[in-house]
Amino acid sequence: MAVRVGVIGAGIMGADHARILSGSVAGAELVAVSDPDEARRKAVASAFGVERTYSDALDLIGDSGVDAVIIASPDPTHKPYALACLDAGKPVLCEKPLATSPADCLDLVRREVGIGRRLIQVGFMRRFDPGYVAMKTALDSGDLGAALIFHCVHRNKQEIGYTTSEGLIANSAVHEIDIARWLLEDEPSRAIVVAPKSSKLASVRDPQILILEMASGPVVEVEVFINAQYGYDVRGELVCERGTVALEPRSDMIVRREGFEGVRHGTDWRGRFADAYRLELQAWIDALGVGGAAGASAWDGYAATAVATAAVEALTSGAPTDIRMEPKPAFYS
Ligand SMILES: NC(=O)c1ccc[n+]([C@@H]2O[C@H](COP(=O)([O-])OP(=O)(O)OC[C@H]3O[C@@H](n4cnc5c(N)ncnc54)[C@H](O)[C@@H]3O)[C@@H](O)[C@H]2O)c1
Repeated sequence: MAVRVGVIGAGIMGADHARILSGSVAGAELVAVSDPDEARRKAVASAFGVERTYSDALDLIGDSGVDAVIIASPDPTHKPYALACLDAGKPVLCEKPLATSPADCLDLVRREVGIGRRLIQVGFMRRFDPGYVAMKTALDSGDLGAALIFHCVHRNKQEIGYTTSEGLIANSAVHEIDIARWLLEDEPSRAIVVAPKSSKLASVRDPQILILEMASGPVVEVEVFINAQYGYDVRGELVCERGTVALEPRSDMIVRREGFEGVRHGTDWRGRFADAYRLELQAWIDALGVGGAAGASAWDGYAATAVATAAVEALTSGAPTDIRMEPKPAFYS
């Protein structure tokens, strides 16, 4: 029987998850949508033939016809809704961040450990991106030797209304924080943030360079620039002892015109990571079918928020900041 899924939040991400789930994921059925904004929830419901809509997400979580939940509402709502899902014993794919502070993430971790079953997957979709998966396969083969430096670029076309200087790390670079932990199978021990002169087109400190020293020695360096103007662009190159492996940014075409040759960039992440979002949802649904779990765990959600919080401290103070994490529960090993 198909897993009956309810989506909380009918904005950019919720609508996209609803679309992918309805058209491209086997074994799942979108059955409910919640958003306090009536126009948005109705738009998503009618686009994908969903009959049950709720203004209050807790009613969706409590709906006995909903087996599993996607949380795609604003960051501060993640913790209360994820807790409600745990209380209801329902698996939940929670968009990043798991919660807005390490302490709040730990509350979720402890609750899940207490239940003794992995119910939370955090929406770090890059773990399913074919490029990053290929990079990890290349590193794990041992052919390149040990990883030394991971160069990352995270550029957006332009900032959105609620952008903050801290958000460049907590909302954008948090993806690189997670993918670096996953790729290198290591934890960052120290964060340094260097903020060059800001772009005149930015209302926040933009760009920023985040440097993470990993416990076993490699260094991760992330340029975050959310007012890059030309489009959404994510790059990564892993420098190893015997060679490098780089993401090959996708493009469906090369344009040649008036002495210029180049590729087209999308305006946001939905095109660049379309495969990753689809594969993430499919892996989630497949794992539910066998009572298992896929992707980033609640612990990974905690770790990413703990690292991002230390990096925000480094941005504010201008000083290198040690990253301290709670011991990882054996449950997540
Ligand atoms: N994984 C990724 O690549 C990625 C990309 C962008 C955003 N995100 C995350 O996804 C989440 C949603 O981001 P977005 O860009 O779709 O934002 P958005 O503003 O487009 O959509 C959020 C929606 O939530 C609704 N909402 C507000 N309060 C709510 C509540 N209490 N309960 C339910 N719904 C509520 C809003 O009306 C809106 O429709 C955020 O947590 C963001 O950090 C993840």
